[in-house]
Amino acid sequence: MASNFHLSETEINKQRHYMSLVRAFTDKPRYVYIKTFGCQQNEADSERLCGMAEEMGYQRTFDPAVADMILVNTCAVREHAELKALSITGGYKKYKEKKPDMILGVCGCMVAQEHRKDDIKNKYPYIDILLGATLIHRFPEIVYTTLCNGGRNFWIDNELSVIAEELPVKREAGAAAAWVSVMYGCNNFCTYCIVPYVRGRERSRDPQKILSEIRALISDGVREITLLGQNVNSYGKDLDRNYDFSDLLRDICAIPGECVIHFMTSHPKDAGHKLIDVMAENPAQKGKVGIACRLHLPLQAGNDRVLKAMNRHYDFDKYMSLITYAKEKMPDIALTTDIIVGFPGETEEEFLDTLNALKAVEYDNIFSFIYSKRKGTPAAEMADQVPDSVKQNRMKRLLDLQNEISRTKNAKYVGKTVRALVEGISKTDSSRLTGRTEQNKIVHFEGPTSLTGSYVSIEVTSAEAHALYGNIKK
Ligand code: 5AD
Ligand code: SF4
Repeated sequence: MASNFHLSETEINKQRHYMSLVRAFTDKPRYVYIKTFGCQQNEADSERLCGMAEEMGYQRTFDPAVADMILVNTCAVREHAELKALSITGGYKKYKEKKPDMILGVCGCMVAQEHRKDDIKNKYPYIDILLGATLIHRFPEIVYTTLCNGGRNFWIDNELSVIAEELPVKREAGAAAAWVSVMYGCNNFCTYCIVPYVRGRERSRDPQKILSEIRALISDGVREITLLGQNVNSYGKDLDRNYDFSDLLRDICAIPGECVIHFMTSHPKDAGHKLIDVMAENPAQKGKVGIACRLHLPLQAGNDRVLKAMNRHYDFDKYMSLITYAKEKMPDIALTTDIIVGFPGETEEEFLDTLNALKAVEYDNIFSFIYSKRKGTPAAEMADQVPDSVKQNRMKRLLDLQNEISRTKNAKYVGKTVRALVEGISKTDSSRLTGRTEQNKIVHFEGPTSLTGSYVSIEVTSAEAHALYGNIKK
């Protein structure tokens, strides 16, 4: 049931050949620095860029000043992310001035947009490589050409239909958590979203390849795996067999070993009872591969007219009935969502429907975004763009309400024991460790750093909107 989108053997061999040519360029140690913006898919793409760079003789560094190659992996979902990536790229100019041979590359979704090409050519003439999100498999070829030409190799034409999994990936050695892409691209064309234009059509990886990758990760000691896709519930539609995301989850849970499986992102129009049933039948537990008791289900807006204008293909009642079913089957399920405020034409009454939706669902957490106009999407051309001040005001009210709901939901954990994977020293208090529960809750507690990467049981003593606090259970 192979997908048609896998790279051909010829193309893989070609890129492998370029990797060996680049490796032979010099014997001196070389370093690559990668700055990643945006979603988990971009993190996963950076791991592949890093894997290929390593094959080409570049070791990863976390100091851009010593790098022989700097890559900025960009996001295009909102303007803010683009501006940040451009400003950081501008800051790397100083390294290029000191070390003219250094290769500066900008990759990912931002540079997959045709209109950015001239922009960048004019304003950032010192950038050597532009490599759109669906072109990363040609990274070896472009590095080789750039080295041969002494820099300045613009390349923007996007190919929207390949899967590059045969090329190397560099994961953090000994890491307890890993990303695994199950599909790429999106066919949904929500009217506000740039993703389908920059990441191309949906293409599912071969299930056997996914299963063997997961088997290998589990036997290497990986304890948490997040399955990635822009719309994982569409998984399998392009395969030549009746096999969907729930079937894939069921097969993953039959793998021997111990691991917690997370997945994102789900689309409410495609997620159904079958998904919830598989989750409920395969809970995460000691000694087994199971699914985390959490669901990220982007609602975007609580009003049906707005949902229609967004081209989301569900109404709030349909969404809510799936949530109700999930809560019935898994009373402890943690629910999260994405919300956009200030979509063109959104009225105060329509926004109130979104606030009411938050109260009805009782999310554990939300990811909220102020609508950002994306060139080339239908919503950017819609009349009645909402003024900035109104968007800001709605965002504040949304966050205030959600903080209250999150605090109430987290308070229910006080007095209970939770199992958490220890991530390391807390970023906000160096005397504490931070862990994450299967519900994706952050827990702070005291303990030795040697616990990093293992599971601990924590008795929760207090809770805030965004974190739990407690003690290791003896
Ligand atoms: N403006 C604001 N938020 C957006 N998102 C996608 N496109 C836009 C946009 N133009 C949000 C959606 C999506 C999340 C990843 O980003 O909520 O689910
Ligand atoms: Fe964008 Fe909609 Fe696809 Fe998600 S489902 S990536 S919001 S177009």
